[in-house]
Parts: sequence; structure tokens; C-alpha cells
Amino acid sequence: MATLAAAISAGPAAPAPAARRRRRGCAAVSCGSSSAADERQALFSRIAPVYDHLNDVLSLGQHRTWKRICVSWSRARRGDRVLDLCCGSGDLAFLLSQKVGLDGQVMAVDFSSQQLQTAASRQDQRWKPCYKNIKWIEGDALDLPFTDCYFDAVTVGYGLRNVVDKPKAMREIFRVLKPGSRASILDFNKSSSLFTTSLQSWMIDNVVVPLASGYGLTEEYKYLKSSILHYLTEKELEELAKEAGFSAAKHYELGGGLMGDLVATR
Ligand SMILES: C[S@@+](CC[C@H](N)C(=O)[O-])C[C@H]1O[C@@H](n2cnc3c(N)ncnc32)[C@H](O)[C@@H]1O
Repeated sequence: MATLAAAISAGPAAPAPAARRRRRGCAAVSCGSSSAADERQALFSRIAPVYDHLNDVLSLGQHRTWKRICVSWSRARRGDRVLDLCCGSGDLAFLLSQKVGLDGQVMAVDFSSQQLQTAASRQDQRWKPCYKNIKWIEGDALDLPFTDCYFDAVTVGYGLRNVVDKPKAMREIFRVLKPGSRASILDFNKSSSLFTTSLQSWMIDNVVVPLASGYGLTEEYKYLKSSILHYLTEKELEELAKEAGFSAAKHYELGGGLMGDLVATR
């Protein structure tokens, strides 16, 4: 019988206007040869300057609550060594940093150098002593630069949906986690409720895309809708985690079903 992993397609290619469609160098990071991955990398670099501002406006600040929940469900504790994968501008990494404290360590990985630059400058601007424990690393979710069983917890915020090969990313997360430890994976929920799906779709078409258009990012935010459409339902996410080797996996709806968090225990 075909496994879920084998059945999952790479999902939609992120849009890349012809003028901007250039292959980003992968000198510092092995980001694979897939053009879909290159296009996504370029997309997240383009939106980096306005990403945080748009998150606040579009979610009315709610993304901060969902991110706190994601970090809390990872069970990261003082002194832990933790990974924030697809860290972007660093929201989850900053929360993790405060959780694990100066005795702990946060490795924050992303394949967009622009997103990492934004993260590093935010770290300078709103400096707290514990932020010394964060290391920003340019790297690929599909080929993590860490040894097996290295982390006490892993968080992923709005990242898995954007990774081209989700089964492989899940296997990498499993590989780097210590036995008994958790991954907490926050993202948009691909709901099975027609009401929620219609609301999500209406909001993207009538709020998100028009607002993003004001920043010249129409196509970039149109991609959001197709990425949710090609994402996994809660049952599929749980199955994907189990196929990767996790002993337990449970998906929880957040934000009235618009968001979801997959908690997977190795
Ligand atoms: C929507 S942003 C989320 C950023 C942040 N975690 C947050 O919650 O605000 C998704 C991030 O995933 C990163 N990403 C996508 N695919 C990746 C991959 N294969 N390896 C590393 N980072 C990846 C993108 O560069 C982008 O910064």
C-alpha cells in the first residue's frame, strides 16, 4: 500500500516574477536542486522586509498567541538545547530563548539569508541578555546540519507547509530530536470544515492579498492560498509524523480552526 509520504506532492511552485526569478546561490547552504525550493527561498527573501509588519496586521496580533502556544507545547525547558526550524525573522526563536535561558541554547535555522538578517537585527534592537543563547544558521530543513538525537525540543512556525519535501523534513526533525522529546509544528489549518475553509479563503482573497498588494507583494501572498490547499489535513499530518517514526502525534486546532499545531513525540 502506498504510504502517505509517497503520495504527497511537492505542492504548488511559489510564484517568481520573471525579472526576479534567479537561482539564489547555495554556497552557504545545501538547498537542493529543486527549482520549487529555489523559488520559495527567493519568495521569502522578497517578503522579509515587511513580513513581521504584515503578520501583525493580518492576524490582528493573534499570531503572537499562537506562537506562544507552539513554544509551550514543545515542552522546551530551562537549560535545553532546542531547534527553531524555518525560523524566518525569529519570533519563535526569541520565545524559546527566554524559555531555555542562558543555560540553554537555541539553534534557529532558515534557508533565506534575508530572513536571518532581519532576525539578527531584531535581536540587536530588542536586546535581552538571554538572546545570547540564539545562533542563526543558514540551512536547509531537508538536510539539517546536526547529529542525531541532538535536541530536547523542536518548533516549526509556518514552515512545514512551505517545505517542498514534507516527509523528508519530518524525518529530519525526528532524526535530530532526542527520544521522548517533542516537535511542535504550527501552521495554517487545512480544515475539513467547509465554513472554516470558506472563511480562510475569503480572508486571503479580500484582506490578505489586497493588503499585501499595497507593498507590491500580490503574487507572493496569493501563494498562501495554494500552499494551504496543497498542505495536509490534521489526520494526514498525524500520519506523516507516525510514518517518520514518531511514537505519538496529535494535531490541535487553534484560532477557531484557522490555525493548527501538530505535537509529535519521538
Ligand atoms: C512563513 S515563514 C515563517 C517564519 C517564522 N517561523 C514565523 O513563524 O514567523 C516560513 C519560513 O520557512 C523558510 N523555509 C521554507 N523552506 C525551507 C527549507 N527547506 N529550509 C529552511 N527554511 C525554509 C522560509 O525561508 C521562511 O523564512
